[in-house]
Amino acid sequence: MKEYADHIQPNADIGRLTWYGVGGTARFLAHPGDTDELAEIVVRARDEGVPLKVLGSGANVLISDDGFDGVVVRLDRGEFRRTKRRETTLTAGAGVDLMVLTKKCSEQGLAGLEGLAGIPATIGGAVRMNAGGRFGEFGNVVREVRLLDRNGAVLRWDRGRIGFGYRRSDLGDRIVLDATLELSADDPSSVRRRYTDYFAYKTKTQPIKEHTAGCVFKNPAGSSAGALIDRAGLKGARRGAVYVSDRHANFMIAGEGATASDVLRLIDYVRDCVRRAFDTELELEIEVW
Ligand code: EPU
Repeated sequence: MKEYADHIQPNADIGRLTWYGVGGTARFLAHPGDTDELAEIVVRARDEGVPLKVLGSGANVLISDDGFDGVVVRLDRGEFRRTKRRETTLTAGAGVDLMVLTKKCSEQGLAGLEGLAGIPATIGGAVRMNAGGRFGEFGNVVREVRLLDRNGAVLRWDRGRIGFGYRRSDLGDRIVLDATLELSADDPSSVRRRYTDYFAYKTKTQPIKEHTAGCVFKNPAGSSAGALIDRAGLKGARRGAVYVSDRHANFMIAGEGATASDVLRLIDYVRDCVRRAFDTELELEIEVW
């Protein structure tokens, strides 16, 4: 990345692009507008041995205070923001906002996404993480995705190959370009009602207005991380300006002046307490860069 194009910004504050709003800078922040521009960045990063990551809506990522010594890509322009609909089949670019798309589909009587009401993500992040919760998972509606590998080649994978699991997929380091979703037509008022109910459950049970990254830990098989943290008496536990939410114990809230290191210290503390109380190892759902 020696001489860079106007869509590549050096020394960029990426912490503020995440929902926590904490953490340091990236060596470069790139905003390619199409597959060719993205491929050029990916191949240059490979050739120069610079690590590269794609940042979606920043809802599941904690940037460390030291920042990320590499290229961070955001697919927030051009072809990555486009959506195409053919009857009940929808192709959405990796940078399309899942919350907006979910709401729009529920208004148009397109069923299949309403279980994801209120989940913050881009389409690319939702594929990679198989975003979801108790009312459904994104992978259930994905028919196929187009990917870019780290040599700049475009691939087409069907759902079987993507290997969706609980908050995971088998994409490895391949970058999602777009996803084709198979939805179904339903009575608009029933899709809207389900959407509203799921959204209300989320608002009631989660601190959605605060600086959080959603659930910090994955649910251990057969139980709920939030319930375990709660039963360990950790609601309100605090390190620096970061504390465990009173509303949902698997959420950590970053208050005024918080740092990534506060979040990391609280993660360690919560893990230790839950290990001691229940002999259960909590695994991170959020990614730390
Ligand atoms: N619970 C407590 N105390 C708490 C939190 C939860 O006792 O502080 C209990 C609840 O009463 C309930 C159970 O734990 O009996 C499960 O709670 P909830 O329904 O809130 O679901 P969850 O398993 O904690 C999952 C997803 C959420 C998603 C919700 C709703 C994970 C780790 N979390 O939460 O996803 O929004 O279902 O669909 O899979 C995320 O992934 O970032 C996320 C927020």
